[in-house]
Amino acid sequence: MSDIQYIHGKQPHPREYRLIFRNVDRVGWDPSLHTYRNDGGYEQLRHALTMDPKAITDEVKASGLRGRGGAGFPTGVKWGFIPPNNTKPVYLICNADESEPGTFKDRYILHQDPHQLIEGMVISCFAVGAKLAYIYVREEFPEAAHILERALAEAREANLLGHNILGSGFDCEIHVHRGAGAYICGEETGLIESLEGKRPYPRIKPPYFPAAMGLYMCPTIVNNVESLCHVKHIIRMGGEEYSKLGTPRNTGTRIVCVSGDVKKPGYYEIEVGKLTMGELLHEVCGGPKDGRSFKAVIPGGSSAKIMRCEESFKIGKGDDAKTLSFYDLPLDFDTLAAAGSMAGSGGVIVMDDSRRMSWVLNNLNKFYAHESCGQCTPCREGSTWMRKITDRLVAGTAAPSDIDTLNSIAYQIDGKTICAFGEACSWPVEAMIDKFRDELISETSESNEGIAHSAENEAQRRFLQPSQS
Ligand SMILES: Cc1cc2nc3c(=O)[nH]c(=O)nc-3n(C[C@H](O)[C@H](O)[C@H](O)COP(=O)(O)O)c2cc1C
Ligand code: SF4
Repeated sequence: MSDIQYIHGKQPHPREYRLIFRNVDRVGWDPSLHTYRNDGGYEQLRHALTMDPKAITDEVKASGLRGRGGAGFPTGVKWGFIPPNNTKPVYLICNADESEPGTFKDRYILHQDPHQLIEGMVISCFAVGAKLAYIYVREEFPEAAHILERALAEAREANLLGHNILGSGFDCEIHVHRGAGAYICGEETGLIESLEGKRPYPRIKPPYFPAAMGLYMCPTIVNNVESLCHVKHIIRMGGEEYSKLGTPRNTGTRIVCVSGDVKKPGYYEIEVGKLTMGELLHEVCGGPKDGRSFKAVIPGGSSAKIMRCEESFKIGKGDDAKTLSFYDLPLDFDTLAAAGSMAGSGGVIVMDDSRRMSWVLNNLNKFYAHESCGQCTPCREGSTWMRKITDRLVAGTAAPSDIDTLNSIAYQIDGKTICAFGEACSWPVEAMIDKFRDELISETSESNEGIAHSAENEAQRRFLQPSQS
């Protein structure tokens, strides 16, 4: 990597480990097949096509790769869920919807290194037995869709896609599908419905786990852009060697997208768990803006629970338990989960002491109320009620009791809906009240009690206290 030159001002930070973003912002780089192949591109595909498909899945399992789309589910294990005696077609879908607020990584791969994704996808198709794959591209990324179409045409022309790829006897086609412009199209079963030409209403799991009953009710593997890019590097390095990157159970590299109140926001590719939150925020991102101090961080996209920067967390169990300050938390899936939040999609949203938490929460609530697909009542109604309450909070017309009402609505959505959007919209509310209750209460007024119990809120009251209605 040392001989690679990067565009002035966009050089990776010394603490970064560029694997997936190796070619992003690289001097002399363009998204053409010619440039990619000159750099050794598609050699891993050539090699993978000589392997037993099951051996590829075994390498991915050995690598410990966990999905970079949000849930951190082990990729090789997911691939293994395709029913063994399946006789239906198998599909692979690349989730390029990148809809989680705070996340901006996949778009750079699509724009600057599309062949890395295509190579990863063809290898993955070969491994799982798929002859047809789709890249579901966010509606708001028209340029990315054009770049991908061009790259796919180049790959077809060079026999890297299509019939009898590189003389291996393996046939595989990939199509670009433009998304429908909604957050819920990023949820894998909503995405599948959308791809089938329907409204993106998520499906109930079980039984509709995509690996068993996905696209057209056939086994389907849905993986994030970044996850699929890792596959070619796993083939190059071998699963065992790849697993030495990062930390045990949290292997490899991942791209974190830092936005908000830091001196140097941007994307950074790091070894998972090798950097602490403090190292990322202070060392890599340059610390808080002048005269400010960090107040709170949402570590994994807007659905992740907010964390206070002055907090400490008990991590681990029994004799292994230790107390870590927020800044000492390693950035990995398991630690952030143990600290009550999640690594999610890698979107780290930073807030300094100038931020009003009522405004932050209202901003999130507006987004979720707008994006609920409306299929389940708690999510459809609750997300709007939560937004209405925080509308009042920022307008200064909320009553102290509104905060408990807000909390109660969130807990009646959480875990009671068809898809994880229910948690995505309720966790920010639950966590904000848990961590910043006093600040939120300080923005309410006893004298507003009458407004809180106005006719407008009658429906909420009935829902929350059914025995009294
Ligand atoms: C509301 C919602 C939105 C989501 N949006 C995205 C998204 O934009 N991109 C993505 O890769 N995964 C998204 N996911 C996660 C996907 O459902 C799925 O788990 C993921 O694409 C699997 O890929 P991975 O195993 O490689 O992480 C979303 C999930 C939910 C509940
Ligand atoms: S939880 Fe929300 S987004 Fe998900 S299916 Fe129900 S209404 Fe739709």
